[in-house]
Amino acid sequence: RTFDVAVVGATGAVGEVMLEILAERNFPVGKVYPLASERSAGSKVQFGDKMLTVQNLAEFDFSRAQIGLFSAGASISKEYAPKAAAAGCVVIDNTSQFRYDDEIPLVVPEVNPEKIAHYKDHGIIANPNCSTIQMLVALKPIHDAVGIERINVCTYQAVSGTGKDAIQELATQTANLLNTKDLKAEVYPKQIAFNVLPHIDVFQENGYTKEEMKMVWETHKIMDDESILVNPTAVRVPVFFGHSEALHIETCDKMTADQCRELLASSPGIEIMDERKDGGYPTAVTEGANSDTVYVGRIREDISHPRGLDLWVVADNVRKGAALNSIQIAEILVKNYL
Ligand code: A2P
Repeated sequence: RTFDVAVVGATGAVGEVMLEILAERNFPVGKVYPLASERSAGSKVQFGDKMLTVQNLAEFDFSRAQIGLFSAGASISKEYAPKAAAAGCVVIDNTSQFRYDDEIPLVVPEVNPEKIAHYKDHGIIANPNCSTIQMLVALKPIHDAVGIERINVCTYQAVSGTGKDAIQELATQTANLLNTKDLKAEVYPKQIAFNVLPHIDVFQENGYTKEEMKMVWETHKIMDDESILVNPTAVRVPVFFGHSEALHIETCDKMTADQCRELLASSPGIEIMDERKDGGYPTAVTEGANSDTVYVGRIREDISHPRGLDLWVVADNVRKGAALNSIQIAEILVKNYL
């Protein structure tokens, strides 16, 4: 049996990779409907070795698809995901629109795949924020083994998380700066080329940004444990693909660096790259980008805390952080539930 799939936002940074991953994995895909705005309706996108014509989302009849992969922004999901679900198309939503709704499952397949069963309630499954996904793939085995009391995390996030406009802005600013031309900052409030911005998504009343609070709210929901203390700083860096994170955790019971390395080496979705020598760690460009794996390195015991552990975690934010995670959810959905 095959499933017809609508890809909403098919011309975007995540949508394009959704099509790529759908074609490259053995997903039982029937028809694929690439959808976007009126602006790009009629244009072509690549699906495997075929070119498909983009259709206007506003005119699409969702009863023609059994699965909808949404990645066109929260407002688009707000309007169209319930319509698609009502037409019998199960939505896997990449935006933040439904993540904090108690009745909508928020899923990382390596962490809480059992929640997919709740897709039935509203016909919608939410895909978490990219930074949360890679962090929890690495931390779930540790939490299960010894408990995590507190997480301090700093992120180093690629511009592709913002979308195609941001990829273009980094490329253009870089080229212009190297050619001593004028610089324009339009997508980000300050220059991103050769710079680092401690600001992702909108500021909240408590002084954190929304991206930071997403990591707090989503960790509690996905780990199903409100007691974990989470203190994030989310930072945008001039990298095209691949998020990196410095995690500083305090566990409930002591875990040594050796125990942590051994545990994570046998955990799903993770590869350890942790040699204490030049280059013996993962980076966004050399390992993260274009890979399906969450890489963990720099594992060490925190010299400032008796139950502290430090880890460096790298993954492709567009793949594991978005498109791949959604398609892994879809794979479990079709295998176990549809
Ligand atoms: P379009 O190409 O028609 O603008 P990114 O995250 O890379 O910025 O991509 C956003 C995606 O969301 C694109 O595929 C974009 O399509 C799509 N999108 C944006 N606004 C709408 C809309 N009003 N209706 C449908 N799709 C939209």
